[in-house]
Amino acid sequence: MGRYFLTTPIYYVNDVPHMGHAYTTLNGDALARWRRLHGDEVFFLTGTDEHGLKVQRAAEQNGLSPQEQADRTSKRFKEAWDLLDIAYDDFIRTTEPRHHTAVQRLLERCYENGYVYKDTYEGAYCVSCEAYFAEADLLDGICPIHERPVEQMTEDNYFFRLSAFRDRLLEWFEEVPDNVTPERYRNEARALVRGGLEDLSITRTSLQWGIPVPWDTEHVFYVWYDALTNYATAAGYGTDDERFDTWWPAVRHLLGKDIIRFHCVYWPAMLMAAGVAPMPRFHVHGWLLVSGAKMAKSSVMQIAPSDLADSLGTDGLRYSVLRDNPFGPDSDFSYEALVQRCNSDLANGLGNLLQRVTTIVGRSGGTVGSAPSPDSALAGTAAQVYEAAAAAWDRVQPSVALAETWRLVRETNEYLQVRQPWKLDPGPERDVVLGDALEALRIVAVLAHPAMPGACAELWRRIGLEGDPAAARLPDAARWGQYPPGLRVEVGEPLFPRLAVD
Ligand code: MSP
Repeated sequence: MGRYFLTTPIYYVNDVPHMGHAYTTLNGDALARWRRLHGDEVFFLTGTDEHGLKVQRAAEQNGLSPQEQADRTSKRFKEAWDLLDIAYDDFIRTTEPRHHTAVQRLLERCYENGYVYKDTYEGAYCVSCEAYFAEADLLDGICPIHERPVEQMTEDNYFFRLSAFRDRLLEWFEEVPDNVTPERYRNEARALVRGGLEDLSITRTSLQWGIPVPWDTEHVFYVWYDALTNYATAAGYGTDDERFDTWWPAVRHLLGKDIIRFHCVYWPAMLMAAGVAPMPRFHVHGWLLVSGAKMAKSSVMQIAPSDLADSLGTDGLRYSVLRDNPFGPDSDFSYEALVQRCNSDLANGLGNLLQRVTTIVGRSGGTVGSAPSPDSALAGTAAQVYEAAAAAWDRVQPSVALAETWRLVRETNEYLQVRQPWKLDPGPERDVVLGDALEALRIVAVLAHPAMPGACAELWRRIGLEGDPAAARLPDAARWGQYPPGLRVEVGEPLFPRLAVD
């Protein structure tokens, strides 16, 4: 038993949820559920990033106040997560008072500790973007986005002394070999630190939609420094010290590779500057790509999770996305692949196994008179599968964990194919085969629960067990031999429909 504090990035409320957001959140939910199955105390956090220019702009375009824009879109994220069966423990919104308190407290600490100073920022500014541009990014003095001339602007800003943290960050990389996983992203983050760190402008006077700087209220914090602090806020920073001390040491952040710099360099430096320890762990994933384009940017990628859940079912979507898109590398995301995965692993694999077993049991009274045999060939498979799946979940590899789990599904189907219980007369010989298959199904229901909480609960019920696999406790629940004889098994509709590709 332990403690596990897992976070997703908080999502901008300028746009509605899409499958890129859902990908991080689904991986987080599955990992959180896996830890809960081991009796860990889990705190799974997600939420929305509601300040800044992007959101202010979107609000203007929609004829809303920024707060209205944030309220509406944040609700859309919650609805999407409900639809996908995401069991978060907290949903943070950066417009909440607890977050204002935490941001002001954390950055005030950095200020008091001498890591924040005021200076004049000078640069090429595009008024339409409300952003500074490096000379190199301009096209002959013209903003590349708006194709309008930029202005030379001067603004008094507060700066964070990031440059002071190079050595301490490198030491952290030295001391904690798995501070960032997978390795390729660790190397990327370390290279950013090695390459040299410039101080960061962390406040704005040109923007209202943000959290005021407590010692100079003309300024608001730039949205990223407000946003990163959400993780500390939710753990109780600035509002509940005891809670913060309980959860903070267990923190792990999931994030996409596009936001490595902010998370794996700036955020640890901010924590060091504020005197917060220990440093978080970071688990980074790649992009889901459709025809090579980043999901949010291609037309195909404007895919709402609800559209896919409608056609694949919530559990089908959860399973196929987790199984087909390994956490780490970029991966091709295609509807056809998801459908194929649902058909092969769910309809033909697990669903067919359940249907076969329950149909035979149903034909002879609905119960099986014998317990699983201790020396069944499947017993060894089950033990290996749990070990391999557990190791994969620990490495933040849900797709590998599910591939391992499906070994038990496949071998149980093969076992039935060899033993052919449908050809055996009712009696002890047949009962042993069916008892073994039911025991394998019980174990699969537990091991697959993090990916498919709904379908696994139904599978559990169909094989006559009470309660929900969510309440099972691993590693005990994976031990072979626990399916009791005499339970009433239900023959129902196929658990997973066979899907058509179009
Ligand atoms: N608000 C910031 C995060 C602040 S966290 C302190 C942000 N938000 S976001 O809504 O733009 O994106 C959030 C996450 O969604 C990122 O981890 C990003 O990688 C992920 N995805 C967005 N598009 C994606 C894909 N096409 N594929 C996979 N994940 C992608 O950044």
